[in-house]
Amino acid sequence: MTSSHNGGVKAKISFTVNGEPKTVLAYPMERLLDVLREQLRLTGAKEGCGEGECGSCSVLMDGMLVNSCLVPVLQVEGCSIVTIEGLAAGETLHVLQEAFLECGGAQCGICTPGMILAAVHLLNAKPDPTVDEIREGLSGNLCRCTGYSQIVEAVADAARRGTST
Ligand code: FES
Ligand code: FES
Repeated sequence: MTSSHNGGVKAKISFTVNGEPKTVLAYPMERLLDVLREQLRLTGAKEGCGEGECGSCSVLMDGMLVNSCLVPVLQVEGCSIVTIEGLAAGETLHVLQEAFLECGGAQCGICTPGMILAAVHLLNAKPDPTVDEIREGLSGNLCRCTGYSQIVEAVADAARRGTST
């Protein structure tokens, strides 16, 4: 795991994570991914490539899907971040989490948090997507295990049930 500190000075950075206000002390160029995982102990976002190619580190930033390995933490000052940990309501899984489990959309699970957040982003914009729109909406997220068809089916199934996030 590499963090680019660029020799800067740590600063207090405040933002909201899963609805809770947080203030961290971090180097401005530290990656949001590292701050989430190491300081805030939110380890759902995974590091795959570290280069913006795989989507396993995806989170929502003010509703936009971003690769947290590419976001310097200073950019999230004042923003609202949603991670996979923010989707379930207590013991009740989000409909996309249920659908991924039921359709076999999660196998090794490395891609799953990012894939589900990409699906949340997609369904927020298009509640009733076509299969092509699902594939397009998830095109920034790579999966080595499933061959994608179970994932596409899971998103279609969640769309049929309706999502609220
Ligand atoms: S780890 Fe961020 S896109 Fe791959
Ligand atoms: S379930 Fe293993 S990478 Fe997608």
